[in-house]
Amino acid sequence: MAHLLKIDFLMNPPESFHTARLLLRKPRPEDAPLIFAAYAQDAEVTRYLTWPPHKTVGVTQAVVERLLAAWQSGAEFSWLLFSRAGDELVGAISARPDGHRIDLGYVLARCHWTQGLMTEAVLAVVQWALTEPSVFRVWAVCDTENPASGRVLEKAGLKREGILRQWALHPNISATPRDCFSYAKTRNA
Ligand SMILES: CC(C)(COP(=O)(O)OP(=O)(O)OC[C@H]1O[C@@H](n2cnc3c(N)ncnc32)[C@H](O)[C@@H]1OP(=O)(O)O)[C@@H](O)C(=O)NCCC(=O)NCCS
Repeated sequence: MAHLLKIDFLMNPPESFHTARLLLRKPRPEDAPLIFAAYAQDAEVTRYLTWPPHKTVGVTQAVVERLLAAWQSGAEFSWLLFSRAGDELVGAISARPDGHRIDLGYVLARCHWTQGLMTEAVLAVVQWALTEPSVFRVWAVCDTENPASGRVLEKAGLKREGILRQWALHPNISATPRDCFSYAKTRNA
C-alpha cells in the first residue's frame, strides 16, 4: 500500500496535450470568465452533473482556484478543452486518481455537442492514464438517463459494467441520489 501511495505522489500528468481538433491544457485563474460564459452557467449543460449552474462568475473563479489546488495536491487533474481551429474554450475534462483507479468527469458547451469532440478528449486522457504505472482502471459513471455520455464512454473504449443504484446526487434533477451506469477500461482489457 505504501508503494502505491508513493507512486500516486509521483504522478505527473502533462499540463497540456493535443488531439486532432483540441488543445487540452491546465486551467488558469484568468480562464474563469470564459468558462462561465461557455458552459458553467448553462442549466441544460449541467442537468446531469453534480453541481448547479453557476449564478455568477465569482462562483467559477472559486472553482478554478479549487481545481488548481487539487492539481497541486494530486487529488484531481483538470484540463480545459480549446478548439485548435478557433482557439475557443469548448469544455473541460477531469481525472481523479484513487489508488490504482482514475475516474473521469467532463463537460462540453452546448453548441459543440455531437461533433465527436468529447470522445476525442476522453480517448486522449484514457491513453495518458493507462501509461501511468500505478493506474490499472480508468472509469466513469453517468446518469442512466444521460445516453450521450454513455455513448462517449463506449466510443472511447470503456465497457459498461452495470448500474450503481442511487450512486450520485445530481441536484439539478432530483434531491435524492440517482442510478448511474458504470463504465471502465482496465489495463488488461
Ligand atoms: C455528454 C457530452 C459530453 C457529449 O459530448 P459530445 O462531444 O457531444 O459527444 P460525442 O459527439 O463524442 O458523442 C455523443 C454521442 O451520443 C449520441 N447522443 C447524443 N444525444 C443522445 C441522446 N439523447 N440519446 C442517445 N444518444 C445520444 C450522439 O449521437 C453520439 O453518438 P454517435 O457518434 O454514435 O452518433 C455532452 O453532451 C455534454 O457536455 N453534456 C452535458 C454534460 C454531461 O452530461 N457530462 C457528462 C456527465 S457524466
